[in-house]
Amino acid sequence: MSPKPAATPGIPPAARGGESAVPRHVAIIMDGNGRWATKRGLPRVAGHRAGAEAVRKAIEVAVEAGIEVLTLYAFSSENWRRSDAEINDLTGLMRFYLERELKTLEKEGVRLKLIGEPAAFGAELAAKLERAVERTASNQRLTLVVALNYGSRVEIAAAAKMLAERAVAGEIAADQIDEALLGAELQTADLPDLDLLIRTSGEVRLSNFLLWQSAYAELVFLDTLWPDFDEAAFGEALGLFAQRQRRFGGR
Ligand code: IPE
Ligand code: IPE
Ligand code: MG
Repeated sequence: MSPKPAATPGIPPAARGGESAVPRHVAIIMDGNGRWATKRGLPRVAGHRAGAEAVRKAIEVAVEAGIEVLTLYAFSSENWRRSDAEINDLTGLMRFYLERELKTLEKEGVRLKLIGEPAAFGAELAAKLERAVERTASNQRLTLVVALNYGSRVEIAAAAKMLAERAVAGEIAADQIDEALLGAELQTADLPDLDLLIRTSGEVRLSNFLLWQSAYAELVFLDTLWPDFDEAAFGEALGLFAQRQRRFGGR
């Protein structure tokens, strides 16, 4: 066994006593829009529309609760397997809500950040998203990270590729590569460690979301379908988090 390190890098202050009940960084796998619509005899797009309203509420709650970063899984790199019609509906909704909500984000002090590969949604939407990122860049109340065409394995592979290129260029030695260097190449490098990961809809899996980042996150799985995710449901997840005792391998 290697000797105990003097410091505990990467371990947040919350783990060293002075326990914080409010997570700094919360991520949500917003699942269940389709089932919500089907249950009501509506087309799936109606579920996505209702889901977009739930996003609004979740942002409000996050701001009020004093959460620093809210990361939302909006579209996975595997969601391209859906029908063209559903993908069209989803991109149309993204465009609509982005235009409608940009002013609110500015007013509420929300900084928008994107992870994934949003360029795949076409130049027009990508440019709109980029403009929203620029216009909210100096906001400080909440960082809203939207994962668009995001896949954790792709993200980690890209980071590995970057490190390999830097090693080939002689910038770093291969044996210098460690978790800090790899973490610094991920799209989440500038964000605090993930504290709480919530998935709605009753599914108990990560679906290729923040695999590296969730190493020591608390996981909360709720049966609530995403469009029904309201203040009470968010409060329930935050309550469960506050009761958890995080150990990070210590005792
Ligand atoms: C989540 O809801 C939204 C996206 C994945 C874009 P779903 O569309 O996956 O809803 P279910 O899982 O089919 O109910
Ligand atoms: C995960 O939900 C992706 C998002 C919520 C954007 P999915 O509905 O795509 O996940 P699976 O297919 O049930 O694993
Ligand atoms: Mg789903």
